Amino acid sequence: MFCVAIDGPAAAGKGTISRAVAQHFGFAHLDTGLLYRAVGAKTMAGVPAIKAALALMPGDLDNPDLRGPEVAQAASKVAVIPEVRAALVDFQRAFARRSGGAVMDGRDIGTVICPRAEAKLFVTASAEVRAKRRFQELAAKGLANSLDEVLVDVKARDDRDMNRAEAPLRPADDAVLIDTSELNIQEAVDMAIHVVTERGAG
Ligand code: DC
Repeated sequence: MFCVAIDGPAAAGKGTISRAVAQHFGFAHLDTGLLYRAVGAKTMAGVPAIKAALALMPGDLDNPDLRGPEVAQAASKVAVIPEVRAALVDFQRAFARRSGGAVMDGRDIGTVICPRAEAKLFVTASAEVRAKRRFQELAAKGLANSLDEVLVDVKARDDRDMNRAEAPLRPADDAVLIDTSELNIQEAVDMAIHVVTERGAG
């Protein structure tokens, strides 16, 4: 059992780093944002948030529409509701304890879900760099409007995620900070693998 907790704001590179770390060590990966996105998508279809969270099924995470910017905002809104967060805890903790090792990325993995994770990373970058990356990602899928709009969205989500009362986004005291503003993907991935190796994985 080995849990790698990777937290940080939207579009800092958590997903890419998490997938690469999981692949390197042969660990399973859970993008916990998808849980909140799946609940957010259900609220957009009219289901009350707490009811949606309590009834969430693994198959709900396979929906390709979950990656869009409207769902991201809906996810960040349902994520402030304590009952929604509580409904998703058991699934996440069970995943963290799986025998082959786990990498989990989100906002509160190192602080709330796995406070005793063997390795904790906090991946961040400036809001401008993150908005630019997210804009390029969305543009490639034909989903983006303008860079300015993406920046406003990123800042709104940062604000909501960092300032909520329940499990706000913040680095755990023992997390290693990786600022990817000036790093390319390979440099950021190498740094993360180095930290996780030092903590005894592999
Ligand atoms: O990582 P993401 O962009 O897919 O996350 C979408 C939203 O879900 C994010 O703005 C806040 C919420 N979230 C959370 O509150 N806790 C997590 N562990 C993961 C995501």
